Amino acid sequence: MKKLLLSATTLVIMATALPAGAQFQKSEDAVKYRQSAFFVMGQHFSRIGAMANNRAPFDAKAAAESAGVVATMSTLPFAGFVEGSDKGNTKARPEIWAERAKFDSLAETMQQEVAKLEVAAQGGNEGEIKSAFGAVGQSCKACHDDYRAR
Ligand code: HEC
Repeated sequence: MKKLLLSATTLVIMATALPAGAQFQKSEDAVKYRQSAFFVMGQHFSRIGAMANNRAPFDAKAAAESAGVVATMSTLPFAGFVEGSDKGNTKARPEIWAERAKFDSLAETMQQEVAKLEVAAQGGNEGEIKSAFGAVGQSCKACHDDYRAR
């Protein structure tokens, strides 16, 4: 019981110490955080892509679920692009920090396209999902072309 209480208290303290505007203990944590968010987003985006490209049977419910995950994840990675995190195990190009406004605006465009994909997926219309999927893909590529190393 005492141990349980202690861990509950620790959790509360941790939650207070880490407000929404994610702060990271070290630069590697920020890199891991953004890569993990991108990874999960990419997995669910690919599931919709498999349907859009007829590699998997269309499943409206699964598409809507994945679109929801993509929408949530799409807001997360960018807090991980903290100053000085262009080094180490990362494909982020240093230009991100020199051209932050452009980078942020590409992120915003992607989030807007993802929001449209989510609406389309909730509507369940296969054609609309496909075209929204394509627009999101373009918005991913627009940033990767300039800011992600191969
Ligand atoms: C505003 C820029 C930007 C946008 C928009 C963007 N990405 Fe990325 N993405 C990056 C950068 C930069 C990296 C490299 C991160 C690193 O290695 O630190 C990355 C890495 C990734 C990775 C590799 C993660 C890993 O395992 O290391 C995946 C997968 C990915 N992005 C998927 C997507 C998808 C899917 C979209 C669109 C829905 C998208 N990204 C939109 C900039 C962007």
